[in-house]
Amino acid sequence: MQRLKPEPEATPLPNGFELTELNPDFLRDPHTMLDRLRSEAPHHIHAHALFPDAPTGLYLTRHEDVRAVFADATYQRDPRATPTGSLARSFAPASVMTEGPHGNLLYLDGAQHRRVRGLVSRAFTPKAIAAKRGEIEAIAARLLAEAAKKPDFDFISQYAAPFPIYVIGDMLGLPRTDMPQFRQWSEDLIFVFNPLRTPEQDQRQLAAFAGLEAYFASAIDQRRRAPTQDLLSAIVHAESETEAKMSDIELSTLLLLILLAGNLTTADVLGNGLHALLEAPEEWAALKAEPDLAVPGTEEMLRHGPPVAIAARYVPEDREVLGCPVRHGAAVVLSLLAANRDPEAFDDPHAFCIRRGRRDHVSFGGGVHACLGAPLARLEIEVTLRTLATDYPGTRLTAPAVRDRPTIGFVGFRELRLSLT
Ligand code: HEM
Repeated sequence: MQRLKPEPEATPLPNGFELTELNPDFLRDPHTMLDRLRSEAPHHIHAHALFPDAPTGLYLTRHEDVRAVFADATYQRDPRATPTGSLARSFAPASVMTEGPHGNLLYLDGAQHRRVRGLVSRAFTPKAIAAKRGEIEAIAARLLAEAAKKPDFDFISQYAAPFPIYVIGDMLGLPRTDMPQFRQWSEDLIFVFNPLRTPEQDQRQLAAFAGLEAYFASAIDQRRRAPTQDLLSAIVHAESETEAKMSDIELSTLLLLILLAGNLTTADVLGNGLHALLEAPEEWAALKAEPDLAVPGTEEMLRHGPPVAIAARYVPEDREVLGCPVRHGAAVVLSLLAANRDPEAFDDPHAFCIRRGRRDHVSFGGGVHACLGAPLARLEIEVTLRTLATDYPGTRLTAPAVRDRPTIGFVGFRELRLSLT
């Protein structure tokens, strides 16, 4: 009788922490795991080992599913609306767990979200951003010229990190001399995204929050008494026919979000995208021959190397999500990394194609919480690409990029060494 060979045992699907950047295998190569999830378990039952009491949720990897959840405004973001023990409560910063109002848009729902978003959108319009092009070009040119003086330099710490801080600092109307302090606060706040931070790192992020809060309290007070021609004044004085001005607490939490939401994200996408571009010499040559490809190239950098790996939405009552029963307060985790590489949505999804120019990637989220700073981030990336292609055509990588960074949910290099000629 012929013996049947036993089937090889399938490796279990990754879950919880295995799907975060704290897992060295995921950090090195997330797409092997995500491709497998998308094809074998696109509606993956997701349990978080660190928080065993939280209701079991879903982990979604298909472009279509991720876009559908973003578009559905019935999901919750406010942790205070979720039951005790939920992931939303476990991950929420203390500043959004207050009884009273706050202005951190990311953690507000419904009418409260609409009110703050409506007021800030009046100050932060795409037209106002477009008017800043000349100033943004000047900052990019100055930082790159400084870096080009050295035989090689770290693109992350010398350009990608300071660039968005200078841009938003100038727009808000903060003195340039305060920027090194902002950068330090911004860097210390990165530890918020690491639940395994040491007590020393915890102290640093708490001190950074306190420093920024005190700084903004005084800046808000000054602008209330004597308005100036900057974004900070426009936000402080924003009101509409139906909505009153924001309170000091709302303003300081909102400003903190505006100051910080674009720093790590823009720095990471610049590093991820430039690395992918320089690793694809034909694409880099195409950009140098035709610098206007910086516009579709910006979208491809965002699609191919999104800095925000995941977003979460919370289920407002027991319901079925994509055919799976899910309990009130459970997290639906949306993998932006996976959705942007879905072969059903993008041909040859792992390739970097400078001409692809698709804007329907999910790197800026979607729905009512879609990124407020997207026009600014797009302009910063485009200006960087254009300046490199025209002024430094000999740009090249000089060492392997270093990725090990202790953050969950954000994807970026710690170091990326380049030479500019
Ligand atoms: C390439 C850079 C950026 C990326 C990839 C990015 C990504 C995102 C994503 C994915 C969200 C939605 C999160 C969610 O729904 O859970 C978001 C929201 C937000 N972003 Fe960005 N962002 C970037 C730059 C910026 C900049 C430059 C600013 C402001 C100066 C900014 C301000 C905001 C704000 C205020 C929200 C909250 C919007 C809301 O909840 O209504 N972002 N961003």
